[in-house]
Amino acid sequence: MKIILGVAGGIAAYKAAELARLLMQESHEVQVVMTKAAEKFVRPLTFAALTGRKVLTNLFAIESAIEHISVAQEHELLVIAPATADLIAKLAHGLADDFLTTLYLAFTGPVLVAPAMNVNMWQHAATRANLDTLRLRGHRIVEPDSGYLACGMTGPGRLADPEAIVEAIGREAHKRRDLAGETVLITAGPTQEPLDPVRYISNRSSGKMGYALAEAAAARGARVILISGPVHLPAPHGVEVVAVRTAVEMRQKVFENLDAADIVIKAAAVADFHLSKVPDHKIKKTAARISLELDPTPDILAELGRKKGGRLLVGFAAETQNLQQEARRKLESKNCDMVVGNLVGVSDSGFESDQNEVILALRTGETIPLPRAPKREVADCIFDQVLRLRLALHAANGN
Ligand code: PMT
Repeated sequence: MKIILGVAGGIAAYKAAELARLLMQESHEVQVVMTKAAEKFVRPLTFAALTGRKVLTNLFAIESAIEHISVAQEHELLVIAPATADLIAKLAHGLADDFLTTLYLAFTGPVLVAPAMNVNMWQHAATRANLDTLRLRGHRIVEPDSGYLACGMTGPGRLADPEAIVEAIGREAHKRRDLAGETVLITAGPTQEPLDPVRYISNRSSGKMGYALAEAAAARGARVILISGPVHLPAPHGVEVVAVRTAVEMRQKVFENLDAADIVIKAAAVADFHLSKVPDHKIKKTAARISLELDPTPDILAELGRKKGGRLLVGFAAETQNLQQEARRKLESKNCDMVVGNLVGVSDSGFESDQNEVILALRTGETIPLPRAPKREVADCIFDQVLRLRLALHAANGN
């Protein structure tokens, strides 16, 4: 892979030279970018000799006026090792005052961060909060080791061994290809069902879960078609977004795009009811109460279950109780291959939250609980299980 190795100014910077050597040995292309502080610990010449490429440090050198943009676009993975507490804080808050931090904001691929610092700095609330921000963005954190630290103290904070970082890069590299050639159709967000030209019924779906699935699939090489209700999220990089508003529009776009899909994931919170005849004029406010006759919306998932063919179909179940039973019931009744069940109405999971805690009910009979995690990590686990499930189903069908 084409890897950018960002090196920050900690005593562990010398280990980054060993990391660069190992990556070159694995035939990766390595472009080293150093912070000013890093140059105090290791000379750029060391990395230039190891990688055969000039080391990038100065954002304002003439020849590199926009080099941070081209370097970001030409590379597939950004590895930052060691990542100091200061650099982690800058990344978390989007500061861009040198080559590495500017490059980070211009980079759209996967990011892997290997922190190294004194144990008290590692355990400080500020560092924890900054790391959580990076995790929520879907960055991989290679946890530091515990042990004797250069400052004479012992405890967590020592840069992970270069071999462990190379292994984490390998996992990231492998993941990048395991959905190549696949087309994934994903629905996300709420639908809005008009009551009149001014009002509508909707729900609290923010779209984060579906967008995390789209990001994860695109990052792993898939073609992604994302059919999205109205949300306040930027279109994920490299994803085809189809905007819809109502359940009827969502259904139409799902079946317009179904032929191209190999995997279908229905994360959208589709309204179950709507006004089948929407008045042309605003309902006037009268003293008397009003009652609305709502009809069921088309059940897109059930229809997909009937028309999926050889595609792998993943439904969701948003429940407030009996999660496992409900997820398994939907698996059967909608002819899904997997149902992702999540409890809603709880704090810090489900609707709007950056995290989710789900169970995966599989057609093979397994039910896999996943720990609460950022939605991007949940999304990666779902795809890991989707690929494993498809192999198991093909084996069971003898093909
Ligand atoms: O968007 P976020 O804020 O990140 O929140 C994520 C989420 C909670 C919305 C998501 O994880 C989730 O649970 N999505 C499904 C919500 C939902 O509608 O669940 P349900 O149990 O009501 O529907 C079951 C399945 O049928 C879902 O796959 C749904 O997409 C589908 N459905 C429902 C109604 C309908 N008319 N057509 C459908 O296809």
